[in-house]
Amino acid sequence: MKVTVVGAGAVGASCAEYIAIKNFASEVVLVDIKEGFAEGKAMDLMQTASLNGFDTKITGVTGDYSKTAGSDICVITSGIPRKPGMTREELIGINAGIVKTVSASLIEHSPNTIIIVVSNPMDTMTYLVHKSTNLPKNRIIGMGGALDSARFKYRLAEALEAPISDIDGMVIGGHSDTGMVPLTSHATRNSVKVSEFLSEERLEQVAADTKVGGATLTKLLGTSAWYAPGAAVSGLVQAIACDQKKMFPCSTLLEGEYELSDICIGVPVILGKNGIEKIVNIPLSDAEKAHMQASAEGVRKTNGLLEV
Ligand code: 2OP
Repeated sequence: MKVTVVGAGAVGASCAEYIAIKNFASEVVLVDIKEGFAEGKAMDLMQTASLNGFDTKITGVTGDYSKTAGSDICVITSGIPRKPGMTREELIGINAGIVKTVSASLIEHSPNTIIIVVSNPMDTMTYLVHKSTNLPKNRIIGMGGALDSARFKYRLAEALEAPISDIDGMVIGGHSDTGMVPLTSHATRNSVKVSEFLSEERLEQVAADTKVGGATLTKLLGTSAWYAPGAAVSGLVQAIACDQKKMFPCSTLLEGEYELSDICIGVPVILGKNGIEKIVNIPLSDAEKAHMQASAEGVRKTNGLLEV
């Protein structure tokens, strides 16, 4: 199993690190445009191999996509991250050009690859990869929902004063401060609905804190987060590499599901060796349905800024 991660910044390096630590991939190639940067990150990570007990071989290259040839999975993290006060949507001008060029270079050398898009605005970048490549829809996956769900579970555990392993919950919709749809009505603590333990007001606060999860970290760190994004990507990569048939919310092209078409947005999917093997339709409350439609409107507005 060969995995390429484009962008050796904090998110890309964190993806490579978590993938290696989970020890299911034979090879990870890190690519960056900054001379020597990916090589340096790869060498540093390789020097943790004996300490962390993994055998994955990590190499780094400066812009040489021939070294990515034959990748089973490619992760695109390249582009600029947001700065405090910026929305993910404001990154579109620079990141669209980068994502389009990078995806073409990856497919040239790995025509059978599955692509995971992380660059922001993620749902629109996933849609761009659909529009600008001929990959089938099951092989284009946007990573946002897995991260947002992890942040939702963190906030629920905090509110419930419970261990995170007791909590289950999912966030669908667009990967944006206003677009996320935390499925509060489905969230549970050890199979009991969280609404049994928390007031409506507290649950609303949990949902609000979840939606600004990325912005909160950007304000604290001065740039966007990397540990949880990297861990979330590694979960998707592992589900595909190990054919786990696990369910994650991912951004995927909808063709009528959730009453939406011609849009990439987060919905629950089953991930296995073929990438997205199934889109799972789950019942939504009227409020969640309305929230999902409003979220889609926001994503469509950003898609309208694309030149494809
Ligand atoms: C985040 O929410 C990077 O979009 C990513 O942290």
